[in-house]
Amino acid sequence: MLHSVSWVSHLPLVVFCGLMTFNPAAKADTVAVTDIVRAQCLSCHQMDRNRVGPPFREIAQRYAHGPAQEAQAYLQRQIQQGSRGNWGAIPMPAQNRINAEQAQAIAAWLLSLANSSTKETS
Ligand code: HEC
Repeated sequence: MLHSVSWVSHLPLVVFCGLMTFNPAAKADTVAVTDIVRAQCLSCHQMDRNRVGPPFREIAQRYAHGPAQEAQAYLQRQIQQGSRGNWGAIPMPAQNRINAEQAQAIAAWLLSLANSSTKETS
């Protein structure tokens, strides 16, 4: 009984830790980026699984080996303009609510995922 009460009182901390794990890099704008991603991308993308679109980590791994600046510029453009034919039959609509600065930050965040580890190491 007492035990379950203390569990509930720790819930905010647990949720907070979950968010910290979700943030791969401790960049200044990481929190804003993950907020945007959560609000506008996770309906179609998941981190490690196919949803409507490809998993974010797989996208990161596909583009991470090229020159970092080019990869980031490419992803920024794809996020803003949308994408078709790179992953499958379903196209991604242009993300009109994302401005250039946000798209750039998201692109940098995406690329940082390539190096972060998952539970499912293959
Ligand atoms: C309506 C569903 C949907 C939403 C919302 C969405 N995506 Fe996508 N996304 C897709 C699909 C589908 C693809 C695969 C497109 C393709 O095959 O080229 C994709 C592909 C991508 C790619 C890879 C592009 C490439 O050239 O390989 C990136 C990066 C990406 N999405 C980022 C984002 C980000 C960031 C957001 C949020 C701002 C977002 N997506 C929101 C459906 C979505």
